[in-house]
Amino acid sequence: MKITKAVIPAAGLGTRVLPATKAMPKEMLPIVDKPAIQYIVEEAVASGITDILIITNRGKGIMEDHFDKAPLLEDSLEKAGKTDQLDAIKDIHNLANIQYVRQIETKGLGHAVSRARSFVGNDPFVVMYGDDVIIGDIPATKELIDAYGTFGKGVLGIKPVSEEAIKKYSSLKVENIHDNVFKCTDMIEKPQRKEDVLSLYSILGRVVLPPEIFDILDHTKPGAGGEIQLTDAMAELARSCGMTAVEFTSKRYDMGNKLGILQANIEVGLKHPEVCEGLREYLKELAKTL
Ligand code: UTP
Repeated sequence: MKITKAVIPAAGLGTRVLPATKAMPKEMLPIVDKPAIQYIVEEAVASGITDILIITNRGKGIMEDHFDKAPLLEDSLEKAGKTDQLDAIKDIHNLANIQYVRQIETKGLGHAVSRARSFVGNDPFVVMYGDDVIIGDIPATKELIDAYGTFGKGVLGIKPVSEEAIKKYSSLKVENIHDNVFKCTDMIEKPQRKEDVLSLYSILGRVVLPPEIFDILDHTKPGAGGEIQLTDAMAELARSCGMTAVEFTSKRYDMGNKLGILQANIEVGLKHPEVCEGLREYLKELAKTL
């Protein structure tokens, strides 16, 4: 079955990036000249997604404005002959069919995804975590969708993380099938004790789920941090029918923490035609003083 729907949860409080995220959603923080969420929508589109549901909450209307048409701005750029700037914005509203729903209470990622039930219906769908930007030649979501086509089970986008970092992420029980493809039979969110760590492989930002996840989410109790965790619901799926895990090829940037935002801006900036030269020179000079 062709997967055409994606859900982007973007209703978190972004407390790790305060004060920047007091009024500005972290999903709108820029990487050089584009907000994080636009990179995510572009990855979805490059992976064959046509319909996107963004989960928002109070104060996140700016995301809807970003993916809307901006006639006044377009007219003004056109009159001024600023064609490069016009080209950069005029097709954003046409990227995909984007809808929005509010998560009234911030009760966790699993709770946010459960808001997507009527949008998803009976189809498998992709969840793209709104603060994980993945950049590279091969869209991560496409790699996951291809694995769903091959194995017919839910798919997790994974990468290894450090022993220190695993406490803040999920930890997966995996067995290699071939190359970058694994079978996953269990997982735990934010393991605090060494004996709870199943491996250093963690879910980073992308999953393909069957619609059965909604029935599981309905009875998922609050877990780590008192939140309804998507990982806890997926663990039930992994234990009962097994899931596939794919170590995706492209690079993931964590826009949910300050260092991740700086890394994304520097690395993307070093490849950006307008600023790469100036930034490289600046970094070389700066490095001499460090
Ligand atoms: P995070 O746990 O990183 O988001 O969730 P957060 O709560 O904003 O993080 P803190 O406050 O800095 O620790 C990952 C993704 O899930 C969304 C977030 O917006 C983020 O894109 N999310 C999280 C929701 O949509 N709803 C929630 O209740 C929690």
